[in-house]
Amino acid sequence: MVIAIDGPAGAGKSTVARLLAQRLGCPYIETGAMYRAVGLFALRRGVPLSDAPALEELAGDIHYRFLSTAQGNRLLADGEDITDVIRGEEVSQAASIVSALPGVRRALVRRQRELGRSGNVVMEGRDIGTKVFPDAEVKVYLDASAEVRGRRRLAQSDAGTPGDPARLKQLMAEIKERDRRDSQRADSPLLQAPDAIYLDSSSLTIDQVVDAILQHVRQRSAAEPRA
Ligand code: DC
Repeated sequence: MVIAIDGPAGAGKSTVARLLAQRLGCPYIETGAMYRAVGLFALRRGVPLSDAPALEELAGDIHYRFLSTAQGNRLLADGEDITDVIRGEEVSQAASIVSALPGVRRALVRRQRELGRSGNVVMEGRDIGTKVFPDAEVKVYLDASAEVRGRRRLAQSDAGTPGDPARLKQLMAEIKERDRRDSQRADSPLLQAPDAIYLDSSSLTIDQVVDAILQHVRQRSAAEPRA
């Protein structure tokens, strides 16, 4: 069974995917990390973010491997553990820019289908239920308000304290800018698949979100005819 989780940045997709995979005993894949890998390598190598053919080649050349650990996934790109260095704001913006390029998306969607082909998997991103696995058995669109997402980012970042209103304002502006770019791009924009269940995590705990999805997974499993 493929469980597809889509939604905007900061809605809690990664945490939910990790906990869900733990409960189901299956792997999970954060596809955003792959776009971040392309952004990181482009910045490091001085590939202009406007050079679509070079970025497509780069996306197709990188070897991506998700390593499962007790603390969650690590992403090895060409053998280097880049899990921590891809979280900065510069790489986030670069990832958002390269993810709008159809060639980059083609290369990564191909890899994502290969990674998900082996069986049960939880995959999270922006286009999993609409493009990567349109036949996924369970689809979830996980949302949250910009303010809640900004507060979560602030709590995660070392620079900010929960009471820093200027930093919160800046983070919310960055989140809205990324939402705008992710939802308005021509190729595979962020949108809810018609058959996805909608969950707003603003007023739910992570456990409530995970439980709601698990309930849906059980219903689907019970409805599936056995092979
Ligand atoms: O989920 P994230 O913030 O790590 O994603 C990084 C960027 O990649 C984000 O701007 C959206 C983009 N992305 C995408 O276009 N399609 C995906 N399946 C996953 C992420």
